[in-house]
Amino acid sequence: MEYRRVARSGQVPDGLVRRFFVDEVEVAVARWDGRVHAMSNYCTHLDCLLSSGRATEEGLLCSCHGSVFDYESGEPILPPATRPIRVYPVREENGEIFVLLPDDAKEQDGPRRRRQAAQG
Ligand code: FES
Repeated sequence: MEYRRVARSGQVPDGLVRRFFVDEVEVAVARWDGRVHAMSNYCTHLDCLLSSGRATEEGLLCSCHGSVFDYESGEPILPPATRPIRVYPVREENGEIFVLLPDDAKEQDGPRRRRQAAQG
C-alpha cells in the first residue's frame, strides 16, 4: 500500500465533497474547516453517492436521506444509516491530496449491489 495522489487541493474547497477515482476505486474527498478527509463514496444506507452530499460541522452528510458520518471514524452520527463507511488515511502536501487505500477497497467499499453480486 502506498499513498496515491487523487486531486489538487484546489479541487476540494471547504464545505464540499468531490468524487475521484484511484484506478477503479471511487473515493469521496471532503474538506471541513481546512482539513481534508477521504472515505468510500457509497453510503451504507442505500448506496447513494456521498460525493453528492456536503461536508458539515458534524460530519459528511448524505444528500439522499440525511445520514451523517463522522469524518474520523466513519461511524454514522445521524440515521438512517446504521453501519460505518470506511475512511482512508489522507495527506495533503504541496497543494496535492494523497489517499492511502486498503488493498481490498475495490471489493469492500463499492456499492452493496456489486459486493453482493461478487459473493454470488
Ligand atoms: S442512502 Fe445515504 S442516507 Fe440513505
